Amino acid sequence: MDLFEYQARDLFEKHGVPVLAAAVATTADEAEAAATKIGGKVVVKAQVKVGGRGKAGGVKVAENPKDAREKAAAILGMDIKGHEVRIVMIAAAAPIEAEYYLAILLDRSNRTFLVMASVSGGMDIEEVAHTAPEKLAKIPVSAVDGISVAKAKEIIAAANFPSDVADQVADVLLKLWEVFQSEDATLVEVNPLVKTKDGKVIALDGKITLDDNAEFRQPDHEALVDHAATNALEAAAKAKNLNYVKLDGEVGIIGNGAGLVMSTLDVVAYAGTKHGGVRPANFLDIGGGASAQIMADGLSIILGDKDVKSVFVNVFGGITACDAVADGIVQALQLLGDKATKPIVVRLDGNNVKEGRAILAKAAHPLIEQADTMDGAADRAAELAAK
Ligand SMILES: Nc1ncnc2c1ncn2[C@@H]1O[C@H](COP(=O)(O)OP(=O)(O)O)[C@@H](O)[C@H]1O
Ligand SMILES: [Mg+2]
Repeated sequence: MDLFEYQARDLFEKHGVPVLAAAVATTADEAEAAATKIGGKVVVKAQVKVGGRGKAGGVKVAENPKDAREKAAAILGMDIKGHEVRIVMIAAAAPIEAEYYLAILLDRSNRTFLVMASVSGGMDIEEVAHTAPEKLAKIPVSAVDGISVAKAKEIIAAANFPSDVADQVADVLLKLWEVFQSEDATLVEVNPLVKTKDGKVIALDGKITLDDNAEFRQPDHEALVDHAATNALEAAAKAKNLNYVKLDGEVGIIGNGAGLVMSTLDVVAYAGTKHGGVRPANFLDIGGGASAQIMADGLSIILGDKDVKSVFVNVFGGITACDAVADGIVQALQLLGDKATKPIVVRLDGNNVKEGRAILAKAAHPLIEQADTMDGAADRAAELAAK
């Protein structure tokens, strides 16, 4: 789960990372009140879970509470890279002298944690990483040893932090490690970490990704979930215990087994390149026991997605054999009745495939087409979605 900046800021504060006074607002009135309370110059910041808010006009300095009100009114409701701004954070404005970058992340490909640090932080860190990678120090951190004082000093030296801020940055790094470890994060990023004109080091922007696999031991994290943004289809799927993720394509996907569904997404995306670039609309793994009810639940979620133009059911019969799955599909379509409106391409293989195909052939449902191979089915489903 990705957090909003204000939530990251609160976790920073909880673990002693230096941050500025701030409050959230969902209306211009609240923004003015927050600015009055904070006092002086403030910054009005769009809270959306996407980077580059500054460049998109979502971060504005306000000279006084009235100004904060106007800036908030302009930012609330804005669309930043497809994210609607519903919340702004009002933060004290810092007199910035220098902007740095610090991040701790899970480096999956190298099976380690990684610290990235740079004295060229701010809005263009991606560009720095691209054009001047030597300015971005990358230091692996062992999960066993973590970040000790000595390790923090090694990182500070590798990134060439000036000596006047070295101790403060090292301290921030130790605290960020505490955030990373104790909150079960996979990413903790501060950009910018600033040095103010009076020599203080402060985290001005924060990004945290929490590890959902650690949910069971982080009861406090439930409160951080942004229920308003949870996709309605995903919520409906969760209520039915389905393993569903909404994607942004047009071909609805149902399969049994996470591995099979993942490769189904790949073949559909590939087939889609020949049909105007249609793509998978979702991930849905109905698991081993594809009963009629589970199939009906899955189909109704997918058919309820207005972006879906065709459906690809890809099942490899194992313990639940193809004839049981085929029965499930036929009964599911009976259950759904005229709620089923989109063409469905079914590919069955594996245990009792002959019987399964015969059941579908006999049912002769007008929406169902069978395909012999996974590639063939992907191609047909993509073709139907492109129509
Ligand atoms: N509290 C603040 N005081 C002064 N300047 C700020 C403050 N917060 C952000 N800024 C400035 O705005 C820029 C962009 O803000 P930031 O929070 O990093 O958003 P984003 O990374 O999404 O663009 C920062 O690099 C910094 O220069
Ligand atoms: Mg930033």
